[in-house]
Amino acid sequence: MIKDFGIEYNNENRCFTLQMEHSTYIMGIVGADITGQTGDPKDPAERKDYLGHIYYGKKLRSGAGRGLLREKDYSYMEGMPKDKCTFMDGFPFEYSFGGTGDFRPNSLEVRNADGFTGCELTYKTYRILSGKKKLEGLPATFGTEEDTATLEIDLEDRALGLVVTLSYSIFRGLDVVARSVRVENKGNAEVTLEKVLSACIELPWENREIVTLSGSWARERFIDRRPIGHGRIEVGSKRGISSHQEHPFMAVVTEDAGETRGEVLGLSFVYSGSFVAEVERTQHDALRVGMGISDYDFRWRLAPGEGFTAPEVVLCYSGEGFGGMTGTFHKLFREHLIRSPFLHKKRPVLINNWEATYFDFNKEKLLEIARVAKSAGIEMLVMDDGWFGHRSSDNSSLGDWVVNEEKLPGGMKALADAVNEIGLKLGVWFEPEMVCPDSDLYREHPDWAIAIPGRKNSECRSQFVLDLTRKEVRDYVVQAVAKVLHSANIEYVKWDMNRPLTDLGSAVTAGGEILHRYMLGVYELQERLLAEFPNLLLENCSSGGARFDPGMLYYSPQIWCSDDTDAIERLSIQEGTALIYPPSVIGAHVSICPNHLVGRTTAFSTRGVVALAGTFGYELDITRLSEEELRQVSEQVQLYHQVNDLVREGDFYRIKSVSALSKNKNDRPSYAWMSVARDKSEALLSYVQVRGGANERSEVLYLAGLDPEAVYTLPDGRVFGGDWLMQAGFVTDKIWGDGASSLYHFTRK
Ligand code: DGJ
Repeated sequence: MIKDFGIEYNNENRCFTLQMEHSTYIMGIVGADITGQTGDPKDPAERKDYLGHIYYGKKLRSGAGRGLLREKDYSYMEGMPKDKCTFMDGFPFEYSFGGTGDFRPNSLEVRNADGFTGCELTYKTYRILSGKKKLEGLPATFGTEEDTATLEIDLEDRALGLVVTLSYSIFRGLDVVARSVRVENKGNAEVTLEKVLSACIELPWENREIVTLSGSWARERFIDRRPIGHGRIEVGSKRGISSHQEHPFMAVVTEDAGETRGEVLGLSFVYSGSFVAEVERTQHDALRVGMGISDYDFRWRLAPGEGFTAPEVVLCYSGEGFGGMTGTFHKLFREHLIRSPFLHKKRPVLINNWEATYFDFNKEKLLEIARVAKSAGIEMLVMDDGWFGHRSSDNSSLGDWVVNEEKLPGGMKALADAVNEIGLKLGVWFEPEMVCPDSDLYREHPDWAIAIPGRKNSECRSQFVLDLTRKEVRDYVVQAVAKVLHSANIEYVKWDMNRPLTDLGSAVTAGGEILHRYMLGVYELQERLLAEFPNLLLENCSSGGARFDPGMLYYSPQIWCSDDTDAIERLSIQEGTALIYPPSVIGAHVSICPNHLVGRTTAFSTRGVVALAGTFGYELDITRLSEEELRQVSEQVQLYHQVNDLVREGDFYRIKSVSALSKNKNDRPSYAWMSVARDKSEALLSYVQVRGGANERSEVLYLAGLDPEAVYTLPDGRVFGGDWLMQAGFVTDKIWGDGASSLYHFTRK
């Protein structure tokens, strides 16, 4: 058995082993004889082998056993012959299929040309490759020939003529398996795919819990943790976006899982559209877990010779609790998913005019903001929604990407030149996927909106979704956006998307294919835009964070996290987000108080501390700040320049959870997190006391990630041993009031 890192097939025990840093993944092949089928199992035409899941967990070194395949179990009573139905009903299939006796959640559901369901995947062959192939047209993790290895296993359904290739990639130094699936029709008749998940695992686990990221608009990714009883738990989105409500992530964890202990298996879907994540505690107390594209309104016709590729799911195993999972996902996304040249760069401190002016702005106002912003050290002005067509509220003009010269005399170039002259860069908001009924584009091409012919489609925020399944529509969008970008010195784009997909019809695309083809269209648009403007800093956004997912990170190095900019609400939102995403991708701004969404007033300094845990910027009318507040802006900007390399590139540690992740009901309402330099030479501890309490003692925090042998100092001269800070704890300075906060910057002596 491979000891270190790699993939092997052992011919003797017919097992595949994926060996990673601290984890092992094993599958095995079983022969037809275990199902008791008649026929000659030695005759290749009759032989049926099945692929089963054996083990996924802490690293094994001694070799793979087959006991967990339970090859003797498949008769329903002692002494009775083996039984195919019993086998189908209980075998831990590596990739499950529907219609032939497996009643647990299926990964693949197919209908043949006569309309009958039923599929049976048997093992065919395998390949082990160095490196990792691209998933054409889809975002996916990547790696080099040296640091990545891939196993491809072909399964087949002989009656349908389908070949299903399961792909597994592993990354040196990481406990991650990236899985995807390709289905090819090698038969003579069309088939219809009704469900194609990307990953399925079945493990003999009892008493596990699941953790999901759930919420709503302006309340994205709140951590939810609950036990798994019998039956099925499903989270997902049918909205055509990964959504505010549920997140394409699920973790299955031991009951004792905490920050540094317990087993955590995390699944994250590299996709931005409708998805499903499901877990069923089966009749035999095993857990079957599946994740992939939602089967809601999914029907994919596959003609002979055609294929379908399901996007990638990344699995992460941590034997060291949630902290281990977080560290692995952060590393994976930074090193193997985000392609942007800005990934390792300090992003310009921006000021966005959305909460400052909403639609009520003109060039003069923007320049006024830019001038004051410049005096405080801010580096970029982002002009948000409302600069085009005749848009002065959210009820018109999406699709007409032509500057409104009444608001911006001289057009985009004049604005960009003036902003540049002040000394700021210019960024611009677009919502390229949309069209308003009140727009020239819609009047000219009413059939370019997604709609069911014969039915009036639903307006949402007075807009329709463009039918990006159509090439001519995609071409229009790319040209329209590119024309604006070529017209002036625009260095950043905020790509927004503000409504779900409904009324799933198209003038050209078949029903059942729209949701996924739409997503492929979005990916193509972003790919084309970045090819034309390789130095553009792209920030994705979807009514806040409705499309904050690994799929979009493949295109943009940062995503607007939530429309809720209230610092206290952001603690939960950002903790949930940072559960798998690194701070460098989390769009976070300081905004004005009372906060526009919750009416709360939080100290300016705390708003800064919270925004510093993300990309950092401002979202307020800086021209109306008091002198004292302006002074604080300058200080925060300077602080950003001091600490951003550490926050962006360092390792993130949750020190004190503010969410349901922690099971300690007596916890004080506070949140603390740390960024530690890779070489452990410095660390930033951020602490927010959500609610002050009378007669409470200052809080003790157990720091993490430091060098236990080293000595660390704070700027005020205090000195601590690394092991002391982690084991004995760091006593926070006493702070007063709700939403008070502290920052501690430790440096190694
Ligand atoms: C939703 C975004 O999340 C906001 O930041 C803002 O850009 C608005 N859309 C503009 O319509």
